[in-house]
Amino acid sequence: MEKVTTVVLAAGEGKRMKSQTPKVLHRICGRSLLGHVLAAVEKASQQKIVVVGHGAEQVKEAFGDKVQYAYQHQQLGTGHAVMQAEQQIPRAGDVFILCGDTPLLSAEVMEKMLLAHRQSGVAATVLTAVVPDAYGYGRIIRTEAGDVVKIVEEKDATAGERTVREINTGTYLFQAEALLDSLGDLDNDNAQGEYYLTDCIALLISKGLKVGSYCLEDYRMALGVNDRSQLAEAAKLLRERINGELLAAGVTMHDPATTYVDVDVRVGQDTELLPNTYLKGATEIGSRCVIGPGTEITECQIGSCVTVRHSVLNRSVLEDNVTVGPFAHLRPETVLRSGVKVGDFVEIKKSDIGSQSKVPHLSYVGDARVGQGVNLGAGTIVVNYDGKNKHVTEIGPRAFIGCNSNLVAPVSIGKGAFVAAGSTITKDVPDGSLSLARPKQVNKEGLAGRFIRSEKKDES
Ligand code: UD1
Ligand code: CA
Repeated sequence: MEKVTTVVLAAGEGKRMKSQTPKVLHRICGRSLLGHVLAAVEKASQQKIVVVGHGAEQVKEAFGDKVQYAYQHQQLGTGHAVMQAEQQIPRAGDVFILCGDTPLLSAEVMEKMLLAHRQSGVAATVLTAVVPDAYGYGRIIRTEAGDVVKIVEEKDATAGERTVREINTGTYLFQAEALLDSLGDLDNDNAQGEYYLTDCIALLISKGLKVGSYCLEDYRMALGVNDRSQLAEAAKLLRERINGELLAAGVTMHDPATTYVDVDVRVGQDTELLPNTYLKGATEIGSRCVIGPGTEITECQIGSCVTVRHSVLNRSVLEDNVTVGPFAHLRPETVLRSGVKVGDFVEIKKSDIGSQSKVPHLSYVGDARVGQGVNLGAGTIVVNYDGKNKHVTEIGPRAFIGCNSNLVAPVSIGKGAFVAAGSTITKDVPDGSLSLARPKQVNKEGLAGRFIRSEKKDES
């Protein structure tokens, strides 16, 4: 197969976004607009060039050496933008040209378009769409027989041409040679004084070359993001696509409109997602889980038959049959082994909790290694930080930590040890020991009256 090079135009300022962030770095469903565009051609193309200008440094920082860059210092039009990449485009094979702000084009459509382009053997294929309102777009002008003649921009179009509802999506495939040979012939003799890439189409035809088109079945895929309202619209459409795919794959959603799943998330069969659930980053969730309501999970690996309610989980691993929440917070590098129960108002940070262990209520656990079958009573606090350094706490299998205990790290609690409620443990507890670390209780009979006023006195 001949080589495919991609050029993404992303030098524009995106003024209407009213943002410090370059437009193409705004994110929907966990990925930047430019990231979505590049993902759509990831499989189909071997070389990717991004034309940068406004915010070039930020774009380079975001994509590093995953792509090549061409600089367009002055934005003199889409044709001018492609000229900046001229030296980097090989003469053999085909060239995809896309805009950095059309995040909804799918890989499937790009592959179908490439196939159609190759099969027809034309010099260029334009991705078009028939839209309800074509205002602002370039129109596809055809002969009566239906052959593409040219693309005219809104500002250059005649009244008749403006009635055409088939628009240029700004996505093209060119035979590299045909593209490179026509760039030099572009001029800026038009309403906007810009070098229009779209003029290449008429130029190719004037040389006797053939131009084809590929029309989108769903015109909404062509949506370009120019302002925040289009950004919100694009996010909504992408969410519908992602949720639709999950529903089709056997995931239950109580309310798809309030279920927010990023593009890289994987969810297993028969898992239920409840409203106001956010699944972010490269999160993976197994089958038969119940997630939400009101839950935010970022970059987590979750097994099967796991329940997470009203909680926030970040960069953690949960094995099968774990239950979390309501109102728990798992911070990075937490591992909950199979069957662990983490209950309400519990925060766990960078800790490994052994299988079948329980942290059911009101606890903070940080930098701890907890064995199997351990019970941390209500209000157990692992005191991992001394103001300067973080220290590790070890709790052996089957240990029992009584309610409202402090475990002052570094400290280790032996296998099957029992810590009495209210203890502040500062020294290691050997295996099987009972440890009491709290003042002895003293009862002084009759002395309560000194501190509590009697009912009679209250009345006087
Ligand atoms: C362009 C097309 C129009 C099409 C529409 C689809 C031209 C002349 N017109 O119009 O036919 O219907 O897209 O959305 O191509 N860019 C640069 N450098 C520049 C100018 C633009 O990198 O000098 C980039 C922008 O950042 C953007 C893309 O090219 O990502 C499209 O530019 P834009 O100005 O939005 O083109 P439109 O006027 O929308
Ligand atoms: Ca545009």
